[in-house]
Amino acid sequence: MIHSCVRRGRVTPGQQRALDILWPHYGVETVRDLNALFGRDAEKHLEIGFGNGEALVTMAKAHPENDYLGIDMYRPGVGHLLLQIEAAELSNVRVMCADAVEILQDHLPVHSLDSVYLFFPDPWPKRRHDKRRLLQAEFVKLLGQRIKFGGSLHLATDWKAYAEQMLEVLEDAPFFINCVGGFAPRPPERPLTKFEQRGLRLGHGVWDLLYQCQDKSLSTEN
Ligand SMILES: C[S@@+](CC[C@H](N)C(=O)[O-])C[C@H]1O[C@@H](n2cnc3c(N)ncnc32)[C@H](O)[C@@H]1O
Repeated sequence: MIHSCVRRGRVTPGQQRALDILWPHYGVETVRDLNALFGRDAEKHLEIGFGNGEALVTMAKAHPENDYLGIDMYRPGVGHLLLQIEAAELSNVRVMCADAVEILQDHLPVHSLDSVYLFFPDPWPKRRHDKRRLLQAEFVKLLGQRIKFGGSLHLATDWKAYAEQMLEVLEDAPFFINCVGGFAPRPPERPLTKFEQRGLRLGHGVWDLLYQCQDKSLSTEN
């Protein structure tokens, strides 16, 4: 049975079945050793805020040689992802229903991740809500401590003000280096989700940011 999950929301009967039956197979309440969790030594990729899991499942299907951990706080989205994992018979995906900040801070080992993806995080469009955005200097520092040296951070947003904030914060972070200088062209390997397709139809812009974690003493502080 799933114990975690910060945001509950309305769960469909199918999602409830997935939460009851599939969670014991793919759900994770706590993690210390990622190789032990997946039962093998392979690249470890983390998606934060996977929503309905579309991008995560696409990446995991495309790269069976890699392991994928997804963290989101929204219970219906977790149920939806579990159903997709079952349908695609994926053995390289594990799911956490929790606040990614807490998991990064208290669970994931230092320099254990090959890459982190943060696609279309909640934009918090009102100016007075800027502080609620996930991508803040403290969070970037935490990411720098959990991503391996040489590992990558890939962000995307369709909210221009957030894109600019992301760029500003990351350019100030001494442990990340911008792979292209400024915003990146859309990498073809980032899955095109229904969410993004809808935004594109409505004429929204999309900004990608690609960084590499580099070896600086600051990033090993805990
Ligand atoms: C706007 S949705 C984007 C979903 C998905 N990445 C996509 O591109 O469709 C943002 C997601 O981030 C999740 N989220 C927000 N804050 C989070 C946190 N602190 N930890 C984990 N997930 C979080 C929300 O529950 C939501 O599912």
